[in-house]
Amino acid sequence: MTVAKETLRPETFASGIASVGIGKVVRQIPADEPPALPPNAELTVIGKAAPRHDGRAKVTGAARFTADVSLPGMLHARILRSPLPHARVRSIDTSEAMRHPDVRAILVIADPADMQSATVRYCGAPVAAVAAVSMAAAEDALRLIHVNYEPLSFVVDFDQARADRAPAVYQGGADAPGGHPSGWPAAAGLPLNGNVRGPAVSQRGDVARGFGDADVIVEGEYRTQVQTHCCLEPHGIVADWQTDTLTAYISTQYTTGVRHELAEQFGLPLNRVRVIVDAMGGGFGSKSTLGNYGHTAVELSRRAHAPVRLVLDREEEQIDSGNRPGTWQRLRIGAKRDGTLTAVSLVSFGTAGVGLGAGVGFNAEALYACDNFSGAQHDVFINAGPGCAMRAPGNTPGAFGLEQAIDQLAERLAMDPVILRDRIDPSPVRREERRIGAERIGWERRHTPGADPGIIKRGMGVGQSLWMANVQLDSSCEVRVTRDGSIEVLSGVQDIGTGTGTVMAQTVAEVFGLRAQDITVRIGDTEFPPGPPSYGSRATASITPPARAAAWHALQSLLREAALALNAAPEDLVTRDGRIVVRSSPSRSIRFAEAAARLRTDRISAVASRSDDYPGFLRRMGDAAWARQSLGGVQFAEVAVDTETGIVRVERVVAVQDCGRPINPRLIESQVHGGVLMGLSYALFEDRILDRHTGRMVNPDLEHYKLAGPHETPAIDVVILENYQGNSATDAYGIAEPANIATAPAIANAVYNAIGVRLRSLPITPAAILGALGKIPQRS
Ligand code: MOS
Repeated sequence: MTVAKETLRPETFASGIASVGIGKVVRQIPADEPPALPPNAELTVIGKAAPRHDGRAKVTGAARFTADVSLPGMLHARILRSPLPHARVRSIDTSEAMRHPDVRAILVIADPADMQSATVRYCGAPVAAVAAVSMAAAEDALRLIHVNYEPLSFVVDFDQARADRAPAVYQGGADAPGGHPSGWPAAAGLPLNGNVRGPAVSQRGDVARGFGDADVIVEGEYRTQVQTHCCLEPHGIVADWQTDTLTAYISTQYTTGVRHELAEQFGLPLNRVRVIVDAMGGGFGSKSTLGNYGHTAVELSRRAHAPVRLVLDREEEQIDSGNRPGTWQRLRIGAKRDGTLTAVSLVSFGTAGVGLGAGVGFNAEALYACDNFSGAQHDVFINAGPGCAMRAPGNTPGAFGLEQAIDQLAERLAMDPVILRDRIDPSPVRREERRIGAERIGWERRHTPGADPGIIKRGMGVGQSLWMANVQLDSSCEVRVTRDGSIEVLSGVQDIGTGTGTVMAQTVAEVFGLRAQDITVRIGDTEFPPGPPSYGSRATASITPPARAAAWHALQSLLREAALALNAAPEDLVTRDGRIVVRSSPSRSIRFAEAAARLRTDRISAVASRSDDYPGFLRRMGDAAWARQSLGGVQFAEVAVDTETGIVRVERVVAVQDCGRPINPRLIESQVHGGVLMGLSYALFEDRILDRHTGRMVNPDLEHYKLAGPHETPAIDVVILENYQGNSATDAYGIAEPANIATAPAIANAVYNAIGVRLRSLPITPAAILGALGKIPQRS
């Protein structure tokens, strides 16, 4: 074990993004791990804004996305989808489609012979699929499939679905997914009552006594809409079933996981399944698994004895690629006059359509210090496409409620919301984030709610985030050094657009004293050592430590050769600026490539896996430690509300975030921009609208489903706090999810501050603003 003590100091990156280190860290390092990495200020490549390793390929169009994969003899698949929200398929006649000369395979998905499979439960549910020699032929063939549906009663309205005699989405419940809400905590085997599953219950202390002890109690009900997944790149797969191997080129957040799914679903040994992904245009939680479309393409390839490409179109993305569940939550918070919380209670109902996982997360339970908590979270089934994980699932809708309730509490206590949070938030990191954020937004300019005179009223608000410092221990990386000095880093891990490959190259380059662009990145292929998933904001935390460890092990072999050449001890050698240098006599050095030329084999290689967190893995450390290890961030928003048109303009967002050791400030800034924009879009625009009479989505495109665009983009000021925790060889954590959580509540609180009326429902549309101001009737 080696122990290193580090004192951290403020640093400003050349990119202009501020980075501030706080505190001290003491770490205990296992013997086979690299020595402690000093703070970023003392490093050459890590912590610097290296350009994306694939940036050039992306902007020139050379990068290969899944839809670009084209194999000899490849077929094109399309899926026939249910036009009805709830129906039983009585019969399905594929004979005419089969006779189409260009059709090579047809798959019946809703099989009339099987009661369970024959029931479709949402508009857009897959019924059958066709593989043909062209897209056009596949489309034609879909029209030649004749389906006889028996319509069943349905419900797509979340409130109606909870009513006593609501149509049952799952008859009798035996066919309903059992699982558990992805709320916090997860609880298995929850009861089903009508369309409602749950509650998942969480409790600590005595909430009744806590409310009894309170000087002040605030209550609120909050509602969030369904947000659909709108990855720039749609879901897609090219499935190539060969006699010896199944290869799936698929836009996925988890190559290793999809390989397992394919092996299980098709009864293949793992070593006969290969999963490949090169460039990706996002996932956000929607590409975590193989999906029904992925299974369909593989089955069609198996039947047609040919590769099959299946890429979803935008309408399919909107109705059947998963979504962020809609939620309703009631929060009640009790506090003493000085702000100390005495009780927090949360009741939530959410809907993930025909799926589960509509909890509102764990903000209310874990963000603030409070001895007494009770939570009850429910899932409500409706006849709509299944929800799935979406950027900080649960916590993003949960924060919309909690952070407004805290804002209400501050007002009731006549306390500044930042000062109230200083009292009740135990995190020293977020305290510093609040201080920096308040200073940068100019919080002292904030007026009392509704006090801005004139038609356009400005306001400021603050919101916080809480996310887990997730790590996947099953994460491996190989580093190869070849005789000419060229270096490769290899792992199954995918880069979904976040820059994973670039941070791996930086991590490896730092070890060898080279530049990031000197490292060849080979990732996104299960032929390489298994990589972690790119979900739960865990890829960087999982893959950079083994990347550094593998590079460090490979370097030790190289240093032995260099030591002979330099007539020095290997321990006395350091790498810098492309050279291996004798530390005690820096005039003696050789070029990195010269050392590599002395290797006895043409290539050396080292593989490393993510070691356990140094002090012992988080899960063994209990709740208090978990809270300290969490990731967070504080965001401040400044808005201008036009009280005549109801239009809310977000003028500025200050986002102060932490992600352990920042590896690449430019990539982090880009991630935070994305998190803020997605949160802003959620707060003001996005809304999946289902027609109550037909069950159809009325806005299944990107014209009527409004996303924030350039015109709505505010000035975004990003500050990254360095927060070394001493848990791994890189101290790095993710940023994607924590950057998304606080935006909507910060905007909602700013809107309240501007107009003096609180909006408790998303999205905050012009109609909602005018309704709240009493200028038009409130939307029911
Ligand atoms: Mo994320 S929603 O864990 O990709």
